[in-house]
Amino acid sequence: MADAPKAPGALGDPQLAFVKELVFKRSAITLEGDKAYLVEARLTPLARAAGLPSVNAFVDQLRSQPAHPMLQKVVEAMTTNETTFFRDVHPFDALRTEILPTLRTARASSRALSIWSAASSTGQEAYSLALLLADSFPDIAATWRVRILGTDLSTATVARATEGRYEQLEVNRGLPATMLVKYFEREGTQWRVKPALRAMTEFRMQNLADPWPAMPQFDIIFLRNVLIYFNVETKRAIFGQIKRVLAPDGYLFLGGAETTLRVDDDFERVPCGKSAFYRVIKR
Ligand SMILES: C[S@@+](CC[C@H](N)C(=O)[O-])C[C@H]1O[C@@H](n2cnc3c(N)ncnc32)[C@H](O)[C@@H]1O
Repeated sequence: MADAPKAPGALGDPQLAFVKELVFKRSAITLEGDKAYLVEARLTPLARAAGLPSVNAFVDQLRSQPAHPMLQKVVEAMTTNETTFFRDVHPFDALRTEILPTLRTARASSRALSIWSAASSTGQEAYSLALLLADSFPDIAATWRVRILGTDLSTATVARATEGRYEQLEVNRGLPATMLVKYFEREGTQWRVKPALRAMTEFRMQNLADPWPAMPQFDIIFLRNVLIYFNVETKRAIFGQIKRVLAPDGYLFLGGAETTLRVDDDFERVPCGKSAFYRVIKR
């Protein structure tokens, strides 16, 4: 059957193909299916800001200038940054009841703990980990060397995460009121994470699909709700690099719709309370 004719001004096929390829090259995100509506919705504000009458005109300008300054902004506009404090809650329960007590014993001599929130978006996941430590393991938070690293592809989210400032609507999502009162201070209509907690965290840019820089070993890695955007080859390459930076007795958490199964056999899934983590199989 012939394709339905496009509405006048609708995103053209070459423009759509260009955006898909750009996003894949720079982020490994695969925009499957048509997605014209998504590209239009996400790029319309950028086209307007550039003073152009349509997304087609904007994309044509990008196509004609290989070093266009807006290319990275386009990729960032196409990422999904949805996140909340204590998202999916069960992994955090598993940390509180089983994993952190185990690590407290296992790391008693080094008194150091290293955690990575990979694809940290606006920082809620990394701060949830800091909040959990401060609230349930105050001795570790106060006297151990704790490092919580958050990384993301998007400059805008890394900047926001570093600031640690959240709107009322954002703190309403997943954050217990007792924690809000204890660990945040009001700044006008916003809430800012207190300095002691911010001091446990560090945020920086990192594209998971690029070769990774030298990194220390992590005891816990949260790599959640980002693999869903990647193809199998990208996931396999990422798991390969995870194996280099996850401590031999370390814990990897993936999102609810993500798994290492049929992608990398070196990991096993270990149920833990209502959650599950992955660890590298010792051979
Ligand atoms: C849906 S958010 C997940 C945030 C958090 N991990 C959670 O589960 O709530 C996905 C994040 O992945 C980031 N992202 C997408 N592709 C990436 C890549 N190639 N490298 C690093 N981060 C990427 C996006 O910028 C976005 O902030």
